Amino acid sequence: MRVLVTPDYRTLSEEAAALVARAIRAKPDITLGLPTGNTPLGMYDELIRRHRDENLDCSRVRTFNLDEYLGLAPDNPQSYYAYMRARFFDHVNIAAENTHIPNGSPDVNADAECGRYEDAIRNAGGIDLLIVGIGSNGHIAFNEPGSSFDSRTRVATLAPETIENAKRHFPNDASIPTSAITIGIRTILDARRILLLASGPGKAEAIERMLRDPVSESVPASALRLHPDVISILDESVRQRQ
Ligand code: PGA
Repeated sequence: MRVLVTPDYRTLSEEAAALVARAIRAKPDITLGLPTGNTPLGMYDELIRRHRDENLDCSRVRTFNLDEYLGLAPDNPQSYYAYMRARFFDHVNIAAENTHIPNGSPDVNADAECGRYEDAIRNAGGIDLLIVGIGSNGHIAFNEPGSSFDSRTRVATLAPETIENAKRHFPNDASIPTSAITIGIRTILDARRILLLASGPGKAEAIERMLRDPVSESVPASALRLHPDVISILDESVRQRQ
């Protein structure tokens, strides 16, 4: 794994967007794996700027999001579907039919949806470049500690610290989902290239464990060390332990 440490969050976001933009220009019909959360917001802003100011063309780009809360319909403002539209899709020339997010609606047959989603990734030819954040407990997508490295898209129960971290985004604690549809660790490792982003002292321990602990299912992000083409872009704040 290559590790790039940038001075601040803004530079992290610019470096990440530059890498993604280069990949899009090299393969205009690229298939991207896309994350949600706070960390990629600056990268999305910078990609939108490049679309607006530098003609970055997303018209043939295909995307698969990494996960979605179970129990939230796409029109729920807390859904990742709503996040992706508001933060990225509505601001670039991506075709709606080329974007994919697991359907976490309350009435969905979740197991069938997981199988359908994994098949859709495979039928698209797999993911060329997958961008992922890391949880303070070392999770990647919603693969919490203990997740099998052979896992594929499935329903996962959220860890207590993941639910705690989600609180700031939900109007009241009762409405926070306790499970999600997530692509699996094997699905992540199947991607041809992986870009991991981490910012802030709350991620220091998780990054340290990802890089230095034995590769183990107790640290899901350590699975990335089994992949031949991973770059982690961190910023200096990750080094400032709380
Ligand atoms: P964050 O989430 O970017 O909001 O910190 C990352 C993650 O939990 O994967």
